[in-house]
Amino acid sequence: MHPKSAQRLLLIVTVGIVAIICRLSPATAAAASPHHSQQSRQNNVGTSCIPHERDALLTLKQGITKDPYGLLDSWRGGNKDCCHWRGVRCSNRTGHVLKLELRNVHAARDDDYDHVKSTALDRLFHLDLSMNYLNGSSGRIPEFLSSMVSLRYLNLSGIPYSGRVPPHLGNLSKLQNLDLSGVFYERSMYSTDISWLAGLPVLEHLSMSMVNLSTIVAWPDVVNLIPSLKVLDLSYCSLTSASQSLPHINLTNLERLDLSGNSFHHPMASCWFWNLTGLQYLFLEGNNLYGKVPDALGDMTSLQIIDMKFNRNIDAMSTSLKKLCNLTVLDLSWCFLNGSMMELIEQMPQCPSNMLLELHLSRNNITGILPSQMAHLTSLSTLDLSGNLFSGHVPSAIGKLANLTVLDLRFNKLDGVITVKHFAMLAKLKELYLSANSLKIRVSSGWIPPFSLDTADLTYCKIGRLFPVWLQFQVNILWVDISSTGLIDKLPDWFSTTFSKATYMDMSHNQINGRLPENMEFMSLKYFYLSSNELTGQIPSLPRNLSMLDLSLNSLSGNLPSKFGTPQLISINLFSNHITGNISGSICELQNLFWLDLGNNRFDGELPQCFPVKDLSFLMLSNNSFSGDFPSFLQSCKQLHFLDLSINKFYGKLPQWIGGLVGLWFLRLSQNMFSGNIPTTVTNLTHLHHLNLANNRLSGAIPWDLSNLTAMTGKYVKDPYIDSYPYGGYVYIVRTLDFTDRQGI
Ligand SMILES: *[C@@H]1O[C@H](CO)[C@@H](O)[C@H](O)[C@H]1NC(C)=O
Ligand SMILES: *[C@@H]1O[C@H](CO)[C@@H](O)[C@H](O)[C@H]1NC(C)=O
Ligand SMILES: *[C@@H]1O[C@H](CO)[C@@H](O)[C@H](O)[C@H]1NC(C)=O
Ligand SMILES: *[C@@H]1O[C@H](CO)[C@@H](O)[C@H](O)[C@H]1NC(C)=O
Ligand SMILES: *[C@@H]1O[C@H](CO)[C@@H](O)[C@H](O)[C@H]1NC(C)=O
Ligand SMILES: *[C@@H]1O[C@H](CO)[C@@H](O)[C@H](O)[C@H]1NC(C)=O
Ligand SMILES: *[C@@H]1O[C@H](CO)[C@@H](O)[C@H](O)[C@H]1NC(C)=O
Ligand SMILES: *[C@@H]1O[C@H](CO)[C@@H](O)[C@H](O)[C@H]1NC(C)=O
Ligand SMILES: *[C@@H]1O[C@H](CO)[C@@H](O)[C@H](O)[C@H]1NC(C)=O
Ligand SMILES: *[C@@H]1O[C@H](CO)[C@@H](O)[C@H](O)[C@H]1NC(C)=O
Ligand SMILES: *[C@@H]1O[C@H](CO)[C@@H](O)[C@H](O)[C@H]1NC(C)=O
Ligand SMILES: *[C@@H]1O[C@H](CO)[C@@H](O)[C@H](O)[C@H]1NC(C)=O
Repeated sequence: MHPKSAQRLLLIVTVGIVAIICRLSPATAAAASPHHSQQSRQNNVGTSCIPHERDALLTLKQGITKDPYGLLDSWRGGNKDCCHWRGVRCSNRTGHVLKLELRNVHAARDDDYDHVKSTALDRLFHLDLSMNYLNGSSGRIPEFLSSMVSLRYLNLSGIPYSGRVPPHLGNLSKLQNLDLSGVFYERSMYSTDISWLAGLPVLEHLSMSMVNLSTIVAWPDVVNLIPSLKVLDLSYCSLTSASQSLPHINLTNLERLDLSGNSFHHPMASCWFWNLTGLQYLFLEGNNLYGKVPDALGDMTSLQIIDMKFNRNIDAMSTSLKKLCNLTVLDLSWCFLNGSMMELIEQMPQCPSNMLLELHLSRNNITGILPSQMAHLTSLSTLDLSGNLFSGHVPSAIGKLANLTVLDLRFNKLDGVITVKHFAMLAKLKELYLSANSLKIRVSSGWIPPFSLDTADLTYCKIGRLFPVWLQFQVNILWVDISSTGLIDKLPDWFSTTFSKATYMDMSHNQINGRLPENMEFMSLKYFYLSSNELTGQIPSLPRNLSMLDLSLNSLSGNLPSKFGTPQLISINLFSNHITGNISGSICELQNLFWLDLGNNRFDGELPQCFPVKDLSFLMLSNNSFSGDFPSFLQSCKQLHFLDLSINKFYGKLPQWIGGLVGLWFLRLSQNMFSGNIPTTVTNLTHLHHLNLANNRLSGAIPWDLSNLTAMTGKYVKDPYIDSYPYGGYVYIVRTLDFTDRQGI
C-alpha cells in the first residue's frame, strides 16, 4: 500500500469519530428540553387542549419509532391535557396547539408521519422538526404540511429528505421563517421551479442550503419578489449563475446573503447583488468567481462580514473598502490575489473607530514587505498572511496590535529578527505561527512574554542553540512545533510540567541530546515527534494518552519499556537507534497498533505470539537480529500492507498462507535464513510492488506465475509524504517516511 493510502485510512477513522459525535448530539436537546417543558407549563396554566388536536399529536407520536431520550414520554392518551406535554405550547386563551418544539428529538424513521392529517393542527404557527430522521417512507417533504396555513415558522433543516421540494409550501402565506436546509452527506433534495416562493409575501428568513437548484437560472428574479427577505441562504445549491441583471432590486431589507459553494464561473462584477446596500453579511466562498471586485462593494457600508475565500484570480487591490466602518471580518484567502500589501492596506477601512477583527489573506500571491501601517488596524484579533510571497523584515509595529490573538505568517519569504518589541503589547496572543520563513527569534533569557499561547509553530525559525526559556511560561500550551530550529541542548527539567497540557509536540531535526524525561506519564501528549536528534539512554514511561510516537534517528539504547502503559498508541517509529533486547509481551498491550518501525536497531530474540494484529498494517523490523520462524501471527493480519523482515536471523520455510496476505504492497525478506521453496501462492499477492527474497537459503523453482504480479509493472512512486488534515479543530498529522532513501531499496 502507498503511504498516502495509509493516511486516508487514518482519516477515515477520524471521520468515524465525528459521525459518532453527531449522533450523540440529541443529548444536548434532551438536556435542554426539561427547561422547555417547564416553560410550557407556566404558559399554559388553566388551559386544556382540544381533543382532536391531542389525537393528531398522538398519531404523530406513533410515527416516531425511536425516542431514546424519552422526550415524548409525557405524550400519553391518559394524560389528557396535551398542552402540558413536553414541547407543546398552546394558546392560553383558546387552547389551540400553537407551537411544537421537537428540534433534535432523536426520532429515527417516521413511517406514519403522513397520518398527521390536514385540519388537525391548523392553528399551529411554529413547527420545528429540525435535525431529526423524519424523512419517512417516501423520503420526501410531506405535502400535507402546506395545509398548516397558520405556520409562521417551519424548520425542517437537517432532515435527510430526498426528492422534490413540494411547491405546495407556497400556500403557507404567513411564513416568516422557512428552513429547508438539507444535510451535506445526502444532498438529494432538489427543485426545478421555485416560483412558489412568490406566495410567501412576508418571508424574512429563507434557507435552502444543499437543495439542488442547478436547473434554475432565474432564481434572482424569484427572490426579488419577496421584499421582506432579511436572510437568504442558498449555499451549496449547485447554482450556476448569479449574473442576472434585475431592472429593479426590491430586496432592501436583506441583511444576510449566503451563496457559498455554488459554481458561478463568471466575473464577480456581473453578480446581481452589488447594490444591496443594507447587506451586513456576504458569503461567497468557493464559487469560482473571478475578476475585479466591483467598486460598489465600497458603498455597502453596513457590511460586517465579507467572505470571498476560495475563488480564483480575484482582483481586490483597487477596490476601496475605506468607508466600510462596520466591517469586522474580511476573508480573501485562496483567491490568487496579486499585488502588494501596501496597496491592500491602503484600501482597508479608515474610520474613527476601527472594527476590523479578522483579516484573512492566506494562500495568495501578495508580494513585498509587510508595511508598518498594518499597525493602524488596531482592533485586529486575527491576522492570517500565511502562504504569500512576503519578504523582508516583520515590522516591530505589529507588537502594538494589543487585541491580536492569532498571528499567522507561515510560508512566506520573511527574514530578519523577531525581538521582544514584536510582542510588546500582544498580551492576548494565543496562536503564533512563524514557520517556514527565514526568521530568527532573539529574546533575552530573562524575557517573560506578555502572552500565554496555546499554539506555537516555529519550525525553521532560528531560536538559538539553547532551549527557549520563555517557553517555560507557556503553561497552557497545547500545540508546539519547534522542529528544525537549530536547538543544541538537553530537554529542560521543566519539560513535563510546563508542557503538561500539550497534546502535540514536534521537536524533530534538532540536536537535542541527553535523556528523555522520566516523569512524562501524566503529560497529555498524543503526538510526540523527536526524530533526528541526539537523544541517548533508555525509553522511559510514556505519556498515557500517546497515539503517535516518533523517536527515530537518535541514539537511544537499552530495552523497550517492560510495560508501555499507552493503550492508544497506533504508531511507533524507533527506526535507527541502538535499542537492544527482545520485543517482550508488553507490545501486546497496544491493541490499536497500526505502524511499527523498529528497523536499524539491535533487537534480538523471537517475536511474541500475542502480537497485536487487529489494525497492524506496517511492520518494519529490518536490520536487527530477530530470529524464529516466519511470524505465524501474521496469518490473521489481513490488512498488512508493508512487511520488512530483511537483515535478521529468521529461518524456516515460508508458509503457504503468505498468499492470503492479499493487501501486501511491499514484502522484503532478504538476508535471512529462510529455506525451502518459494510458495507458489505469492503470485496471489496482486497488489505487490516490491518483492525481495534475496540472500536466503531458498531452493527449488521460481514460481512460473510470478508474471501475474501485475502491480509490479507499475513504476515505484517515491513519495516523501508529510501532510496534515485539519479536522474538528484538531490537526491530525500522519507521517510516513520515504522508504527508498533511508533503507536503500
Ligand atoms: C396569556 O398569554 C398572554 C401573552 O402570552 C399574557 O399576556 C396573558 O397574561 C396570559 N393570560 C393568562 C390568563 O395566563
Ligand atoms: C431516510 O434517511 C436515511 C438517512 O439518510 C436514509 O438511509 C433512508 O434511506 C431515507 N429513507 C428514505 C425512504 O429515503
Ligand atoms: C432551524 O434549525 C436549525 C437546527 O436546529 C438551526 O440551526 C436553524 O437556525 C433553524 N432555522 C431557523 C430559520 O431558525
Ligand atoms: C396548495 O398549492 C398547490 C400547488 O401550488 C395547489 O395545487 C393546492 O390546491 C394548494 N392548496 C392546498 C390546500 O394544498
Ligand atoms: C444537481 O442536479 C443536477 C441535474 O439533475 C445533477 O447533474 C447534479 O449532479 C446535481 N448536483 C449535486 C451536487 O448532486
Ligand atoms: C420587484 O421587482 C420586480 C422587478 O425586478 C418588479 O417587477 C416587481 O413588481 C417587484 N415586486 C415587489 C413585490 O415589489
Ligand atoms: C443597482 O445598480 C445598477 C447599476 O449598477 C442600477 O442600474 C440600478 O438602478 C441599481 N438598483 C437599485 C435598486 O439601486
Ligand atoms: C454600523 O453599526 C452600528 C452599530 O451596530 C449601527 O448603528 C450603524 O447603523 C451601522 N452602520 C451602517 C452603515 O450600517
Ligand atoms: C503566484 O506566484 C507564483 C510564483 O511566483 C507563480 O508561479 C504563479 O503563477 C502565481 N499565481 C498567480 C495566480 O498569479
Ligand atoms: C480590544 O478588545 C476589547 C475587548 O473586546 C475592546 O474593548 C477594545 O476596544 C479593543 N481594542 C481595540 C484597539 O480595538
Ligand atoms: C488468494 O487470494 C484470495 C483473495 O483474493 C483468497 O481468498 C485466497 O485464500 C488466497 N489464496 C491463498 C492460497 O492464500
Ligand atoms: C496467473 O495467470 C494465469 C493466466 O491469467 C492463470 O492461468 C493462473 O491461474 C494465474 N496464477 C495464479 C496463481 O493466480
